[in-house]
Amino acid sequence: MRDVNIDWANLGFSYIRTDLRFRSHWKDGAWDAGQLTEDNVLHIAEGSTALHYGQQCFEGLKAYRAQDGSINLFRPDQNAARMQMSCERLLMPAPSTEMFIEACRQVVKANEHFLPPFGTGGSLYLRPFVIGVGDNIGVRTAPEFIFSVFCTPVGPYFKGGLAPHNFIVSEFDRAAPNGTGAAKVGGNYAASLLPGAQAKEAQAQGRQFADAIYLDPATHTKIEEVGAANLFVITKDGRTFVTPKSPSILPSITKYSLLHIAEHRLGLNVEEGDVYINQLDRYSEAGACGTAAVITPIGGIQHGDHFHVFHSETEAGPVTRRLYDELTGIQFGTVEAPEGWIVKV
Ligand SMILES: Cc1ncc(COP(=O)(O)O)c(C=O)c1O
Repeated sequence: MRDVNIDWANLGFSYIRTDLRFRSHWKDGAWDAGQLTEDNVLHIAEGSTALHYGQQCFEGLKAYRAQDGSINLFRPDQNAARMQMSCERLLMPAPSTEMFIEACRQVVKANEHFLPPFGTGGSLYLRPFVIGVGDNIGVRTAPEFIFSVFCTPVGPYFKGGLAPHNFIVSEFDRAAPNGTGAAKVGGNYAASLLPGAQAKEAQAQGRQFADAIYLDPATHTKIEEVGAANLFVITKDGRTFVTPKSPSILPSITKYSLLHIAEHRLGLNVEEGDVYINQLDRYSEAGACGTAAVITPIGGIQHGDHFHVFHSETEAGPVTRRLYDELTGIQFGTVEAPEGWIVKV
Protein backbone atom coordinates (compact mmCIF):
# COMPACT_ATOMS: atom_id res chain seq x y z
CA MET A 1 0.00 0.00 0.00
CA ARG A 2 1.45 3.36 -1.06
CA ASP A 3 1.45 6.34 1.28
CA VAL A 4 -0.77 8.97 -0.24
CA ASN A 5 -0.05 12.63 0.03
CA ILE A 6 -3.00 14.30 -1.63
CA ASP A 7 -4.38 17.80 -1.17
CA TRP A 8 -7.96 16.51 -0.83
CA ALA A 9 -9.66 19.90 -0.84
CA ASN A 10 -8.02 20.94 -4.11
CA LEU A 11 -8.46 17.83 -6.20
CA GLY A 12 -9.45 18.41 -9.81
CA PHE A 13 -10.65 15.84 -12.31
CA SER A 14 -7.40 14.22 -13.38
CA TYR A 15 -5.82 10.78 -13.26
CA ILE A 16 -3.96 9.72 -10.14
CA ARG A 17 -2.68 6.16 -10.25
CA THR A 18 -4.09 4.12 -7.39
CA ASP A 19 -2.78 0.79 -6.10
CA LEU A 20 -5.05 -1.92 -7.46
CA ARG A 21 -7.52 -2.44 -10.26
CA PHE A 22 -9.88 -5.33 -11.10
CA ARG A 23 -9.43 -7.24 -14.33
CA SER A 24 -11.36 -10.14 -15.84
CA HIS A 25 -11.02 -11.86 -19.25
CA TRP A 26 -13.80 -13.26 -21.40
CA LYS A 27 -12.96 -16.19 -23.63
CA ASP A 28 -14.94 -19.15 -24.98
CA GLY A 29 -18.22 -17.76 -23.76
CA ALA A 30 -17.47 -16.81 -20.15
CA TRP A 31 -15.76 -14.28 -17.88
CA ASP A 32 -13.09 -15.66 -15.58
CA ALA A 33 -13.29 -14.89 -11.86
CA GLY A 34 -11.06 -11.85 -12.29
CA GLN A 35 -8.47 -10.50 -9.91
CA LEU A 36 -6.94 -7.33 -8.55
CA THR A 37 -3.65 -6.31 -10.11
CA GLU A 38 -1.06 -3.60 -9.51
CA ASP A 39 -0.36 -3.32 -13.23
CA ASN A 40 -2.03 -0.22 -14.67
CA VAL A 41 -0.91 -0.99 -18.24
CA LEU A 42 -2.80 -3.31 -20.59
CA HIS A 43 -0.89 -5.55 -23.01
CA ILE A 44 -3.33 -6.31 -25.85
CA ALA A 45 -3.21 -7.75 -29.38
CA GLU A 46 -2.43 -5.24 -32.14
CA GLY A 47 -5.54 -6.38 -34.01
CA SER A 48 -7.87 -5.74 -31.05
CA THR A 49 -11.27 -4.44 -32.20
CA ALA A 50 -11.17 -1.84 -29.40
CA LEU A 51 -8.18 -0.22 -31.15
CA HIS A 52 -9.53 -0.24 -34.72
CA TYR A 53 -13.30 -0.34 -34.62
CA GLY A 54 -14.07 1.32 -31.32
CA GLN A 55 -15.51 -1.87 -29.84
CA GLN A 56 -15.43 -0.71 -26.24
CA CYS A 57 -17.65 0.92 -23.66
CA PHE A 58 -17.20 2.36 -20.20
CA GLU A 59 -18.97 3.61 -17.11
CA GLY A 60 -18.38 6.27 -14.49
CA LEU A 61 -19.61 6.17 -10.90
CA LYS A 62 -18.35 7.35 -7.54
CA ALA A 63 -17.68 6.07 -4.04
CA TYR A 64 -18.30 8.60 -1.27
CA ARG A 65 -16.97 8.70 2.30
CA ALA A 66 -19.98 9.20 4.55
CA GLN A 67 -19.92 11.15 7.79
CA ASP A 68 -20.02 7.94 9.88
CA GLY A 69 -16.91 6.63 8.09
CA SER A 70 -18.72 4.09 5.92
CA ILE A 71 -18.42 4.12 2.12
CA ASN A 72 -21.35 4.70 -0.24
CA LEU A 73 -21.69 3.65 -3.85
CA PHE A 74 -24.43 5.62 -5.61
CA ARG A 75 -26.79 3.43 -7.67
CA PRO A 76 -24.14 1.04 -9.06
CA ASP A 77 -26.89 -1.28 -10.31
CA GLN A 78 -27.89 1.48 -12.74
CA ASN A 79 -24.35 1.72 -14.10
CA ALA A 80 -24.25 -2.06 -14.47
CA ALA A 81 -27.53 -1.97 -16.41
CA ARG A 82 -26.29 0.83 -18.67
CA MET A 83 -23.06 -1.06 -19.33
CA GLN A 84 -25.14 -4.09 -20.30
CA MET A 85 -27.08 -1.89 -22.72
CA SER A 86 -23.87 -0.41 -24.19
CA CYS A 87 -22.38 -3.91 -24.59
CA GLU A 88 -25.50 -5.16 -26.31
CA ARG A 89 -25.36 -2.27 -28.80
CA LEU A 90 -21.72 -3.10 -29.67
CA LEU A 91 -22.10 -6.89 -29.67
CA MET A 92 -19.98 -7.41 -26.57
CA PRO A 93 -20.56 -9.70 -23.59
CA ALA A 94 -21.35 -7.71 -20.44
CA PRO A 95 -20.56 -8.45 -16.80
CA SER A 96 -23.63 -9.33 -14.75
CA THR A 97 -24.88 -6.73 -12.27
CA GLU A 98 -23.48 -8.83 -9.40
CA MET A 99 -20.06 -9.10 -11.04
CA PHE A 100 -20.01 -5.37 -11.82
CA ILE A 101 -20.89 -4.30 -8.27
CA GLU A 102 -18.53 -6.84 -6.69
CA ALA A 103 -15.64 -5.58 -8.88
CA CYS A 104 -16.41 -1.98 -7.83
CA ARG A 105 -16.50 -3.03 -4.18
CA GLN A 106 -13.16 -4.82 -4.41
CA VAL A 107 -11.50 -1.85 -6.09
CA VAL A 108 -12.81 0.66 -3.54
CA LYS A 109 -11.77 -1.56 -0.61
CA ALA A 110 -8.31 -2.13 -2.05
CA ASN A 111 -7.78 1.61 -2.57
CA GLU A 112 -9.65 2.92 0.46
CA HIS A 113 -6.72 5.15 1.43
CA PHE A 114 -7.32 7.10 -1.81
CA LEU A 115 -10.92 7.89 -0.86
CA PRO A 116 -11.20 11.62 -0.04
CA PRO A 117 -12.32 12.25 3.56
CA PHE A 118 -15.89 13.34 4.32
CA GLY A 119 -16.25 17.10 4.13
CA THR A 120 -13.63 17.72 1.43
CA GLY A 121 -16.20 17.40 -1.37
CA GLY A 122 -13.99 14.85 -3.13
CA SER A 123 -14.89 11.28 -4.04
CA LEU A 124 -13.35 8.17 -5.55
CA TYR A 125 -14.27 7.97 -9.24
CA LEU A 126 -14.66 4.44 -10.58
CA ARG A 127 -14.07 3.72 -14.25
CA PRO A 128 -15.34 0.29 -15.36
CA PHE A 129 -14.75 -0.59 -19.02
CA VAL A 130 -15.14 -3.45 -21.49
CA ILE A 131 -12.87 -3.73 -24.55
CA GLY A 132 -12.71 -6.14 -27.49
CA VAL A 133 -9.27 -7.76 -27.73
CA GLY A 134 -7.50 -10.69 -29.43
CA ASP A 135 -6.08 -11.37 -32.90
CA ASN A 136 -8.41 -10.04 -35.57
CA ILE A 137 -8.44 -7.90 -38.72
CA GLY A 138 -11.98 -7.78 -40.22
CA VAL A 139 -14.87 -5.66 -38.98
CA ARG A 140 -16.45 -8.19 -36.66
CA THR A 141 -16.90 -8.71 -32.95
CA ALA A 142 -13.74 -9.64 -31.03
CA PRO A 143 -12.81 -13.19 -30.02
CA GLU A 144 -11.96 -12.06 -26.47
CA PHE A 145 -12.84 -9.24 -24.10
CA ILE A 146 -11.46 -7.56 -21.00
CA PHE A 147 -13.61 -6.09 -18.23
CA SER A 148 -11.67 -3.85 -15.88
CA VAL A 149 -12.43 -1.35 -13.12
CA PHE A 150 -9.94 1.22 -11.90
CA CYS A 151 -10.39 4.21 -9.64
CA THR A 152 -8.93 7.64 -9.08
CA PRO A 153 -9.70 10.31 -6.46
CA VAL A 154 -11.45 13.35 -7.92
CA GLY A 155 -12.81 16.76 -7.08
CA PRO A 156 -15.12 18.85 -9.28
CA TYR A 157 -15.20 18.32 -13.06
CA PHE A 158 -16.07 21.98 -13.67
CA LYS A 159 -14.15 24.11 -11.17
CA GLY A 160 -15.85 26.09 -8.44
CA GLY A 161 -18.53 23.83 -6.98
CA LEU A 162 -21.87 25.50 -7.57
CA ALA A 163 -20.41 28.36 -9.61
CA PRO A 164 -22.31 28.78 -12.90
CA HIS A 165 -20.54 28.13 -16.20
CA ASN A 166 -21.37 29.34 -19.68
CA PHE A 167 -21.73 26.97 -22.63
CA ILE A 168 -21.77 27.44 -26.40
CA VAL A 169 -23.86 25.58 -28.97
CA SER A 170 -21.73 23.49 -31.32
CA GLU A 171 -22.39 23.12 -35.02
CA PHE A 172 -21.27 19.51 -34.77
CA ASP A 173 -23.53 16.63 -33.79
CA ARG A 174 -22.50 14.41 -30.92
CA ALA A 175 -24.37 11.37 -32.21
CA ALA A 176 -26.65 10.30 -35.07
CA PRO A 177 -30.45 10.09 -34.61
CA ASN A 178 -30.43 6.28 -34.58
CA GLY A 179 -26.75 5.85 -33.77
CA THR A 180 -24.92 5.12 -30.54
CA GLY A 181 -25.71 8.30 -28.58
CA ALA A 182 -27.58 6.40 -25.86
CA ALA A 183 -24.67 4.02 -25.29
CA LYS A 184 -21.59 4.98 -23.30
CA VAL A 185 -19.12 4.11 -26.04
CA GLY A 186 -15.77 5.72 -26.76
CA GLY A 187 -16.64 6.74 -30.33
CA ASN A 188 -19.15 9.30 -29.05
CA TYR A 189 -16.41 10.90 -26.98
CA ALA A 190 -13.79 10.84 -29.75
CA ALA A 191 -16.33 12.72 -31.87
CA SER A 192 -16.79 15.28 -29.09
CA LEU A 193 -13.10 16.18 -28.71
CA LEU A 194 -12.98 18.73 -31.54
CA PRO A 195 -16.26 20.50 -30.66
CA GLY A 196 -15.22 20.46 -26.99
CA ALA A 197 -11.85 22.04 -27.82
CA GLN A 198 -13.51 24.62 -30.08
CA ALA A 199 -15.94 25.54 -27.29
CA LYS A 200 -13.10 26.06 -24.81
CA GLU A 201 -11.21 28.23 -27.31
CA ALA A 202 -14.25 30.30 -28.32
CA GLN A 203 -14.76 33.83 -27.07
CA ALA A 204 -17.83 35.96 -27.58
CA GLN A 205 -18.13 39.46 -26.10
CA GLY A 206 -15.30 38.59 -23.73
CA ARG A 207 -17.05 35.46 -22.46
CA GLN A 208 -15.47 32.04 -22.21
CA PHE A 209 -17.20 28.69 -22.33
CA ALA A 210 -16.79 25.52 -20.30
CA ASP A 211 -17.93 23.11 -23.02
CA ALA A 212 -20.12 22.57 -26.09
CA ILE A 213 -23.90 22.15 -26.15
CA TYR A 214 -25.18 19.64 -28.69
CA LEU A 215 -28.53 20.03 -30.43
CA ASP A 216 -30.65 17.13 -31.64
CA PRO A 217 -28.99 15.74 -34.77
CA ALA A 218 -32.22 15.46 -36.80
CA THR A 219 -33.54 19.04 -36.59
CA HIS A 220 -30.92 21.11 -34.71
CA THR A 221 -33.70 22.87 -32.80
CA LYS A 222 -33.63 21.13 -29.38
CA ILE A 223 -30.89 20.85 -26.77
CA GLU A 224 -29.66 17.30 -26.20
CA GLU A 225 -26.46 17.28 -24.13
CA VAL A 226 -24.17 19.70 -22.32
CA GLY A 227 -20.64 18.41 -22.95
CA ALA A 228 -20.53 15.04 -21.16
CA ALA A 229 -23.60 15.81 -19.07
CA ASN A 230 -27.38 15.92 -19.44
CA LEU A 231 -29.44 19.12 -19.24
CA PHE A 232 -32.26 20.14 -16.93
CA VAL A 233 -34.18 23.39 -16.87
CA ILE A 234 -36.70 24.90 -14.45
CA THR A 235 -39.71 26.74 -15.85
CA LYS A 236 -40.14 30.46 -15.15
CA ASP A 237 -42.79 29.83 -12.48
CA GLY A 238 -40.27 27.65 -10.61
CA ARG A 239 -42.69 24.72 -10.60
CA THR A 240 -41.58 22.32 -13.32
CA PHE A 241 -38.33 20.41 -13.83
CA VAL A 242 -37.84 19.64 -17.53
CA THR A 243 -35.19 17.47 -19.12
CA PRO A 244 -34.77 16.51 -22.79
CA LYS A 245 -35.95 13.16 -24.08
CA SER A 246 -34.29 11.66 -27.14
CA PRO A 247 -32.92 8.30 -28.27
CA SER A 248 -29.51 9.90 -28.94
CA ILE A 249 -28.95 11.19 -25.37
CA LEU A 250 -26.98 9.20 -22.84
CA PRO A 251 -29.53 8.21 -20.16
CA SER A 252 -27.87 9.94 -17.21
CA ILE A 253 -28.27 8.23 -13.86
CA THR A 254 -27.87 11.61 -12.15
CA LYS A 255 -30.63 13.06 -14.35
CA TYR A 256 -33.09 10.27 -13.50
CA SER A 257 -32.16 10.64 -9.83
CA LEU A 258 -32.87 14.39 -10.03
CA LEU A 259 -36.20 13.71 -11.74
CA HIS A 260 -37.14 11.58 -8.74
CA ILE A 261 -35.83 14.12 -6.22
CA ALA A 262 -37.59 17.03 -7.97
CA GLU A 263 -40.91 15.20 -7.89
CA HIS A 264 -40.81 13.38 -4.56
CA ARG A 265 -38.65 15.66 -2.40
CA LEU A 266 -39.14 19.13 -3.89
CA GLY A 267 -42.77 18.65 -4.94
CA LEU A 268 -42.14 19.89 -8.49
CA ASN A 269 -43.86 18.77 -11.65
CA VAL A 270 -41.43 16.81 -13.80
CA GLU A 271 -41.35 16.43 -17.53
CA GLU A 272 -39.16 14.66 -20.04
CA GLY A 273 -39.72 16.70 -23.16
CA ASP A 274 -38.29 19.10 -25.71
CA VAL A 275 -36.14 22.07 -24.73
CA TYR A 276 -36.04 24.28 -27.82
CA ILE A 277 -32.92 26.38 -28.26
CA ASN A 278 -34.99 29.37 -29.43
CA GLN A 279 -37.38 29.21 -26.44
CA LEU A 280 -34.93 29.46 -23.55
CA ASP A 281 -36.77 32.44 -22.08
CA ARG A 282 -39.39 29.97 -20.81
CA TYR A 283 -36.89 28.87 -18.14
CA SER A 284 -35.52 30.59 -15.06
CA GLU A 285 -32.72 28.10 -14.28
CA ALA A 286 -30.66 25.53 -16.13
CA GLY A 287 -28.05 23.02 -15.12
CA ALA A 288 -25.74 20.34 -16.45
CA CYS A 289 -25.92 17.08 -14.50
CA GLY A 290 -23.83 13.93 -14.37
CA THR A 291 -21.63 11.83 -12.13
CA ALA A 292 -18.59 14.00 -12.87
CA ALA A 293 -20.41 17.33 -13.31
CA VAL A 294 -22.71 16.61 -10.29
CA ILE A 295 -24.88 19.69 -10.88
CA THR A 296 -23.18 22.54 -12.67
CA PRO A 297 -25.46 25.57 -12.96
CA ILE A 298 -25.59 27.01 -16.47
CA GLY A 299 -25.03 30.77 -16.36
CA GLY A 300 -25.84 31.31 -20.01
CA ILE A 301 -25.84 29.71 -23.45
CA GLN A 302 -24.27 31.23 -26.57
CA HIS A 303 -26.14 30.28 -29.74
CA GLY A 304 -24.81 32.02 -32.84
CA ASP A 305 -24.74 35.75 -32.00
CA HIS A 306 -27.22 35.45 -29.15
CA PHE A 307 -26.30 34.90 -25.49
CA HIS A 308 -29.13 33.82 -23.20
CA VAL A 309 -28.68 34.26 -19.44
CA PHE A 310 -30.76 32.08 -17.09
CA HIS A 311 -30.81 32.92 -13.36
CA SER A 312 -27.42 34.65 -13.22
CA GLU A 313 -23.90 34.28 -14.58
CA THR A 314 -22.44 34.32 -11.09
CA GLU A 315 -24.90 32.56 -8.76
CA ALA A 316 -26.86 29.31 -8.78
CA GLY A 317 -30.63 29.66 -8.72
CA PRO A 318 -32.77 28.53 -5.74
CA VAL A 319 -34.15 25.30 -7.25
CA THR A 320 -30.72 24.28 -8.55
CA ARG A 321 -29.32 24.75 -5.03
CA ARG A 322 -32.03 22.61 -3.45
CA LEU A 323 -31.50 19.86 -6.02
CA TYR A 324 -27.74 19.99 -5.41
CA ASP A 325 -28.10 19.84 -1.61
CA GLU A 326 -30.52 16.94 -1.76
CA LEU A 327 -28.49 14.94 -4.31
CA THR A 328 -25.10 15.42 -2.64
CA GLY A 329 -26.70 14.85 0.79
CA ILE A 330 -27.95 11.45 -0.39
CA GLN A 331 -24.56 10.58 -1.91
CA PHE A 332 -22.59 11.53 1.21
CA GLY A 333 -25.16 9.99 3.53
CA THR A 334 -26.37 13.13 5.32
CA VAL A 335 -29.83 12.93 3.71
CA GLU A 336 -31.91 9.76 3.70
CA ALA A 337 -31.66 7.95 0.37
CA PRO A 338 -34.58 6.49 -1.55
CA GLU A 339 -34.74 2.70 -1.21
CA GLY A 340 -31.86 0.93 -2.95
CA TRP A 341 -29.91 4.02 -4.06
CA ILE A 342 -26.96 3.55 -1.70
CA VAL A 343 -24.88 0.36 -1.72
CA LYS A 344 -22.41 0.12 1.15
CA VAL A 345 -18.92 -1.07 0.29
C1 LIG B 1 -22.49 12.25 -22.73
C2 LIG B 1 -22.88 12.12 -21.30
N1 LIG B 1 -24.09 12.57 -20.91
C3 LIG B 1 -24.49 12.47 -19.63
C4 LIG B 1 -23.68 11.95 -18.65
C5 LIG B 1 -24.17 11.86 -17.25
O1 LIG B 1 -24.50 10.54 -16.93
P1 LIG B 1 -24.45 10.03 -15.43
O2 LIG B 1 -25.34 10.91 -14.64
O3 LIG B 1 -24.95 8.64 -15.48
O4 LIG B 1 -23.03 10.14 -15.00
C6 LIG B 1 -22.41 11.49 -19.00
C7 LIG B 1 -21.51 10.93 -17.98
O5 LIG B 1 -21.59 9.76 -17.70
C8 LIG B 1 -21.99 11.57 -20.34
O6 LIG B 1 -20.79 11.15 -20.70
